[in-house]
Amino acid sequence: MILTTGGAGFIGSHFVLDWLARSDEPVLNLDKLTYAGNLENLAGLRGDSRHVFVQGDIGNAAQVARLLAEHRPRAVVNFAAESHVDRSIYGPEDFIQTNIVGTFRLLEAVLGYWSGLPAAEQAAFRFLHVSTDEVYGSLGSTEPAFQETRRYEPNSPYSASKAASDHLVRAWHHTYGLPVLTTNCSNNYGPYQFPEKLIPLCIHNALAGKRLPVYGDGQQRRDWLYVGDHCAAIRRVLEAGRLGEVYNVGGWSEKANLEVVTTLCDMLDAMRPRADGCSRREQIAFVADRPGHDRRYAIDAGKLERELGWKPLESFESGLRKTVRWYLDNEAWVKHVSTGAYRDWAGKQYGE
Ligand code: NAD
Ligand code: DAU
Repeated sequence: MILTTGGAGFIGSHFVLDWLARSDEPVLNLDKLTYAGNLENLAGLRGDSRHVFVQGDIGNAAQVARLLAEHRPRAVVNFAAESHVDRSIYGPEDFIQTNIVGTFRLLEAVLGYWSGLPAAEQAAFRFLHVSTDEVYGSLGSTEPAFQETRRYEPNSPYSASKAASDHLVRAWHHTYGLPVLTTNCSNNYGPYQFPEKLIPLCIHNALAGKRLPVYGDGQQRRDWLYVGDHCAAIRRVLEAGRLGEVYNVGGWSEKANLEVVTTLCDMLDAMRPRADGCSRREQIAFVADRPGHDRRYAIDAGKLERELGWKPLESFESGLRKTVRWYLDNEAWVKHVSTGAYRDWAGKQYGE
């Protein structure tokens, strides 16, 4: 069995679904079910005894220790985090608690469990920490893409908290010998992403006839990766990554935000034209910039390709098309996540 944390969130739920589509090895899924956790993402596993869901907090070391002792997983994949940069600007506390203190408590519980395993199980055990390219800070316009050796320069409460968690994971390996792996990935997109992040927010707003808020001049650049490709990279690193190593994961697909939004508008116009026949580009609105907004991220995923043979399968075009199709076919999912928590957020951030 493996233990995933945060497996009811966007990437974690894809990981669990993909894992169980490929293997019969059970998954123990520990998730706090914050506003971002959604068991509807895992509805396809209802009644499937290979998926054991437990609501709980990675910061609850006693609960984690009990689960480890009871289920004896051979690996832990840590997705659990507060993940939205804008929310971290309004309220950093939850980010510090889950991303830093929570990761610390999880590491402590896992170390206790791992230390008591027989030698062969200890040698085979892995703790994989899922992290972000944002820990590296902002790139200049002509600088090469982030490699794993890049210094850490986090600029937001979110990225600072993820950077801290990466450092803890590294230290638990070097000091206590815990067999860890870390992945630092670029911007994911795909089905089941909460409509606070740029792509699902714009799909949601575009269909609802609302404005598409582009921060500042829209020329900030991000690297985009289809979520299924990220999950494949994590599986590969878990299977064959070198202990204590960091692997950057990215889509070789760097785009300015405005280009992302206009591409999305054109795709939606083609797949579901507006009733009045006008382009959704008309809905784009430039709004106040994000404080401390990083200008550019780009990932060099060459190490992962050279060492472990991983490459993304989706292009931005093909991944985005799949994503738009999914949101068009799953309006009920969007309606269900548009709970009070989401409406409160949109009201605070965008004055809606
Ligand atoms: P998400 O916000 O969609 O999901 C996070 C999940 O973690 C939710 O299910 C939530 O309920 C759970 N959670 C939060 N606090 C918890 C706690 N204390 N204990 C247990 N569960 C808790 O996030 P996501 O986009 O799926 O990101 C998953 C991971 O991948 C995060 O660590 C994030 O930093 C990292 N990451 C995300 C992206 C991206 O583009 N979304 C890119 C690179 C890395
Ligand atoms: O780079 C990896 C990171 O990508 C992950 O670690 C984070 O968990 C994930 O949330 C994401 O962070 P970003 O801040 O890049 O994602 P977001 O979708 O919030 O924003 C993408 C870009 O679009 C960013 O430059 C800000 C901009 N943006 C975002 C929103 C929500 C807008 O212009 N308008 C918006 O309304």
